[in-house]
Amino acid sequence: MGCKPIPLAISMLLLLIVSTFQVHAKTKDFILTKYGARADGKTDNSKVFLKVWNEACKRKGRNAIIIPPGVYMTNPVCFKGPCGGEMIFNNKGVVKAPSNPQLQVREWIAFKNIDRLTVFGDGTFDGQGHTAWPYKKKNKGLTLPIILMFNSISNSVIHHIKLIDSKSVHMKFFSCSNIHVDHVTVSAPGDSPNTDGIIVSRSHHIDISNSNIGSGDDCIALLSGSKNVNISHVNCGPGHGISVGSMGGREGEKDIRGLLIQNCTFTNTTNGVRIKTKVNPSFPITASNIVFRDIIMSDVSNPIIIDQQYVNMMPGVHSLSIPYRKPEAESQVQVADIKYINIRGSSKKQVAVKFLCSKIKPCKKLNLKNINLKYDGQKGPAKSECVNANGVALGKQNPPSCL
Ligand SMILES: *[C@@H]1O[C@H](CO)[C@@H](O)[C@H](O)[C@H]1NC(C)=O
Ligand SMILES: *[C@@H]1O[C@H](CO)[C@@H](O)[C@H](O)[C@H]1NC(C)=O
Ligand SMILES: *[C@@H]1O[C@H](CO)[C@@H](O)[C@H](O)[C@H]1NC(C)=O
Repeated sequence: MGCKPIPLAISMLLLLIVSTFQVHAKTKDFILTKYGARADGKTDNSKVFLKVWNEACKRKGRNAIIIPPGVYMTNPVCFKGPCGGEMIFNNKGVVKAPSNPQLQVREWIAFKNIDRLTVFGDGTFDGQGHTAWPYKKKNKGLTLPIILMFNSISNSVIHHIKLIDSKSVHMKFFSCSNIHVDHVTVSAPGDSPNTDGIIVSRSHHIDISNSNIGSGDDCIALLSGSKNVNISHVNCGPGHGISVGSMGGREGEKDIRGLLIQNCTFTNTTNGVRIKTKVNPSFPITASNIVFRDIIMSDVSNPIIIDQQYVNMMPGVHSLSIPYRKPEAESQVQVADIKYINIRGSSKKQVAVKFLCSKIKPCKKLNLKNINLKYDGQKGPAKSECVNANGVALGKQNPPSCL
């Protein structure tokens, strides 16, 4: 038999039948408690989680893993694909990390190699960080687990979930594409060590919206290889604000470009919108085509900042956390085409706009438009500071621009 083309009308009909079938394809539910999960907050449910995942992942069609209300403790688990169909992780309960303070793994709940994943359900992922933070404060090099790690995930949605008290980062995307994050809450104390909200790395077409993030480190960090990231309606604080980088500190890092950060608020954060690049070691990559617009700052220490003097830890003695910089070292990262539009509110420090760029790669095409950042201090009104920074300022400028 040959491969005769099917006449158009028939193939359209087939397509219609197939797509109609898919729309109406039933979701198969996999309810965790039916597989023996114990909601006592103590029993380790990791084996149950994996059994349910493996069974659901094998099946074609839509598969929903349902975590009913209740507190489910689990040791680290890795949910691996590729799966036969669409995967849904519906958490209506509390998934709780072990309180083992020195659990030295990188990830607590990891999703890997999955296309079409949905994580939602109004439930909570509780990292039990308070048991580990005192150890982390004493030993800065200690590896502790991320609550939700997404590695090589595509065409997926994470929405209506709450992440609290991670031992480390709350949520990380690595090598992901076409991800929508919406209505996510991150909550950890302002003094908890390295508890970033969301990290994006080597990923593209990531949308983060309508979320509240308070933690002890970056609200959102966009690292090496972040491209086409759209962040809107995110409230940050406490924490270190939204950060592009740090970048340039490792060989093989990729450029960052095409970021839009809009309609966000920062309350009581140490930075607002920050770009930070490393000096030593430093590699020649670029951060470009970045827009920060319609942003409100409330009591932010450094509302607008580019910091190309960001010091790396001394190689080899990371755990001692000694800031190390050769006096003559300069960042090789090129920062270019950065727009700041409609940014207003209050600065906790007098220098409200700070551009500390590299001597060997001065910042290019910085664009400030309608900036109004008030400072109420005895030293006088708000100021701006420029080092190796080039660009233009338009419209209202408070503080007066140094560009
Ligand atoms: C601001 O954040 C710091 C650090 O988390 C905290 O100690 C302080 O109470 C906060 N201030 C306000 C007004 O919320
Ligand atoms: C970014 O997200 C906002 C809110 O969801 C949306 O209105 C806007 O069109 C998006 N912009 C881009 C460039 O994707
Ligand atoms: C962001 O805020 C500005 C000013 O308040 C508004 O005009 C604009 O429509 C908002 N954009 C989005 C995507 O909500």
